[in-house]
Amino acid sequence: MAMLLSEKQIAQLKRRVTETPHPREMVLDVLHAIQEAKGWVSDEGIELAAAILGLTPLQVEEIATFYDKIYRRPVGRKVIHVCDSICCWSRGSEAIMLRLQQLLGIAPGETTADGMFTLLPTCCLGACGDAPAIRIGKNLYGRVTPEDLAGILEGER
Ligand code: FES
Repeated sequence: MAMLLSEKQIAQLKRRVTETPHPREMVLDVLHAIQEAKGWVSDEGIELAAAILGLTPLQVEEIATFYDKIYRRPVGRKVIHVCDSICCWSRGSEAIMLRLQQLLGIAPGETTADGMFTLLPTCCLGACGDAPAIRIGKNLYGRVTPEDLAGILEGER
């Protein structure tokens, strides 16, 4: 289990947990550290997070599954988040999602055969003024049109 994080990382996270009034405040930090190491959070990762936090795996799982940026299944090297919250939806996010499905040949929740991209719907990306918005890896794209997407994907490869 410790293979997911180094002993040093685990010790650092445990120290931060003890300095935090409520361990639950640290759940996302710990899960992100585990996700950073492996790309996603396995059951083993949930158990490690619980051990670090002093919570039960079920308590950690409940929080992990609530956040769509914590991946509980293996994902591609880059995750494409397509915002489907109200601003983006009203400005055409459905057409964006459909075009991405066509270009990638996958459905939402799936990963391309080459392991490059995973396509996921997501809630607000915080770029409502530039709707419709998508995020690929760490890059945010606003005012996206279906015609832009082939070029965007090419740039992300
Ligand atoms: Fe899409 Fe906020 S609603 S970025």
